[in-house]
Amino acid sequence: MKKVKTSRTERRFDSKTLLVTGGAGFIGSNFVHSMLKLYPNVRIVNLDKLTYAGNLDNLADIGCDPRHEFIRGDIRDRELVQNTFEHVQGVFHFAAETHVDRSIVDAGEFVLTDVFGTFVLLEALRRSPQVEFFVHVSTDEVYGSRDKGFFKETDPLNPSSPYAASKAGADRLAHAYFVTYGAPVVIVRPSNNYGPYQYPEKFIPLFVTNAMEDKPLPLYGKGTNVRDWLHVEDNCRAIELVARRGALGEAYNIGANDERRNIDVARRIVKLLGKSRDLIKFVPDRAGHDRRYAVNCRKLRALGWKTEIAFEEGLEKTVSWYVENESWWRKIKEQSAEFKSFYAEYYKDRK
Ligand code: NAD
Ligand code: DAU
Repeated sequence: MKKVKTSRTERRFDSKTLLVTGGAGFIGSNFVHSMLKLYPNVRIVNLDKLTYAGNLDNLADIGCDPRHEFIRGDIRDRELVQNTFEHVQGVFHFAAETHVDRSIVDAGEFVLTDVFGTFVLLEALRRSPQVEFFVHVSTDEVYGSRDKGFFKETDPLNPSSPYAASKAGADRLAHAYFVTYGAPVVIVRPSNNYGPYQYPEKFIPLFVTNAMEDKPLPLYGKGTNVRDWLHVEDNCRAIELVARRGALGEAYNIGANDERRNIDVARRIVKLLGKSRDLIKFVPDRAGHDRRYAVNCRKLRALGWKTEIAFEEGLEKTVSWYVENESWWRKIKEQSAEFKSFYAEYYKDRK
């Protein structure tokens, strides 16, 4: 493939066919919804393996939309990926193993999906000259933890968990394909997302649904770790904008700059649900638990983005969504063997 120059020309998506990997997961499914809403003539090919975290219920309302084609498949399947790339003009790569606690128990799938899976996609990319852009969805966790200040995109990566290290590997591999082959890669590094359709193993949906069930809310350590909470709709708007206006070869941080201690979020959740704070139970800390993530988003704001959903409002909306969609999360918590077996194993020695 010929080396592409870094350019700031606006890319257009209408009448294009776009590949979304991991589009049955939390952010991916929200992204598919937002793109179909924004672009009447877009076509989305959604490639997802449907691991424990992938869920077709997340796409139920667009099941009959002719603009959306779902392919159940693995991003590590070279032939499938190459064939799929031949029909698309742009790629949004969300598919990954994503839960830090699972990566601590067993890192293997994280390396295989997040690093090797990304490699398979990048190989297909360099053999598909008609693909105009490839948005690689990385994470703010690649920088590691810092007590004060904010990470810029040019700061060195210093990941702590096997999950974050796998994502850092994929992030740099994507960049290497830009430098070496001129592959049209642009990287985004979002902070902690929350919102509808988030698998209930992650902090906010786990705490909301446990509180609804009057079950304990397992708060790691002292609950003083800090996360920068970004509503998933704000994240999706940022990713769409970076694909449209971002410079190839560049990375863009995405954060809300709305930092909260876990204990404060937990207290807010029980308050919103009218439950007692006694449900909050301090449990042994996560191994290698990053204290704080914080990113500088000046570069993204220069493209014309700002958050539209403040945390207080977003959390209230999110809690309401889990209250109104009880059947969605009960099906996972009560019927998913993956959900139950992980928790039985994880908490065995941590009571
Ligand atoms: P998720 O776990 O909810 O969804 C991941 C999706 O990827 C699932 O649908 C799963 O079936 C699919 N998948 C996994 N392995 C696959 C494979 N081998 N082939 C095809 N599909 C596969 O994840 P999420 O929270 O929506 O995160 C999406 C992306 O955003 C990930 O790359 C993650 O690292 C990144 N990210 C997430 C957050 C967050 O707060 N959730 C923040 C920053 C970055
Ligand atoms: O920062 C972006 C990252 O955010 C993404 O790249 C990851 O895919 C995503 O999982 C998330 O990672 P975190 O580890 O920050 O998210 P999690 O929801 O697992 O935990 C948020 C905080 O809450 C963290 O400090 C650990 C704490 N926690 C989490 C769980 C699941 C608890 O105290 N108790 C819990 O049961």
